[in-house]
Amino acid sequence: MVWAITHHDTLQELLADPRVGKNPQLWTTFREGRLPEGWPLLNFVTVPGMITVDGADHRRLRGLVTQAFTPRRIAELAPAVEARCERLLDAMATLEGEFDLREHFAYPLPMQVIGELLGLAVEQQHQLHELSDTLVSSSATPEAAVAAQRGLFALLGSVVAAKRAEPGDDLTTDLIAAREADDRLTEQELVGTLLLMLVAGHETTLNLITNAVRALLADRSQLELVLSGQQPWSAVVEETLRYDSPVGQFPLRYAVEDIEVGGVLIRRGEALLASYASAGRDEGHYPDADRFDLTRQPARHLSLGHGPHFCLGAGLARLEAETALRGLFGRFPGLTAAKDAPAPEPIASFVSNSVRTLYVRTA
Ligand code: HEM
Repeated sequence: MVWAITHHDTLQELLADPRVGKNPQLWTTFREGRLPEGWPLLNFVTVPGMITVDGADHRRLRGLVTQAFTPRRIAELAPAVEARCERLLDAMATLEGEFDLREHFAYPLPMQVIGELLGLAVEQQHQLHELSDTLVSSSATPEAAVAAQRGLFALLGSVVAAKRAEPGDDLTTDLIAAREADDRLTEQELVGTLLLMLVAGHETTLNLITNAVRALLADRSQLELVLSGQQPWSAVVEETLRYDSPVGQFPLRYAVEDIEVGGVLIRRGEALLASYASAGRDEGHYPDADRFDLTRQPARHLSLGHGPHFCLGAGLARLEAETALRGLFGRFPGLTAAKDAPAPEPIASFVSNSVRTLYVRTA
């Protein structure tokens, strides 16, 4: 049994509550070995890295990579993100008729950026994407879930071996150095951290770009507000995060002790699910919550998390999404949803919230 935390204020409170932890050992069901192998979310809740630890271990693992995401480092990445975006738009300009914007634009931009930060070769990026899609899927068979986890660890293990032999100017090499210099993380934590950076670094931003374009094309009056300069692109990014949270839900947290919240008793050892997509549509917090409205004041949301596990890549995600949207609509202001494409299907995932395809035409 899991408690889904769907209201904004309750979620905000619990995300920062020290009586709530992320180590799966706190979960009675897990500790008693009652989860079947191949349970689709097992990998997610046990990956050795900063999302499954608390306190000093969390600070240690998060501290190893924070330097790569400081505002200064993100600002330094801006020209490279811009250049990648322009190259993808050039390639898109050669496509005829209707095409899937998710595949040709929303996916490659964040994947190339995080791939370069981690020092991954292009073929590795594609393989890792396929496997990580299965990792966040809730429709994968138990066999596929187990195979995806093994595949990811094997592939990332080989990336680590290659970087050990031939170090590069990338985050993977920095993590290896931290492990070898003073044993600041285990080999499993090293691979787990790479896995986390890879999945968190692209699946999410891919959804954010897709969801933003979809919302703008569905209501051109909102797009006009930006194209006419009345609203900045950052407003589109923030309102999309609230309206259609790229991370629908984040598994899992656990009650360290009995907690009473909103008249409900969550017992020690029970699990909690952070339901970001629901919190963004909480009518008690956002009037007319189902309306995509760039003029909303203030448009603050929880979709990048809150408390000690607040998204490490928030600055990068915002940079990529703003660059992508400004570039896309700057180049193709007449972009429209494809006329005859079937209604887009949602991704079958517990974590990832978006559509599988977004067919558009540029004129
Ligand atoms: C639109 C894009 C993104 C969204 C919506 C997003 C959302 C989130 C959320 C909701 C959390 C908190 C999870 C929880 O504990 O409940 C989180 C954590 C995290 N995010 Fe992001 N994220 C995005 C982009 C990125 C990027 C580009 C990176 C870059 C590597 C990244 C790295 C991380 C990491 C490492 C954590 C774990 C932090 C910790 O446990 O201390 N994210 N993200």
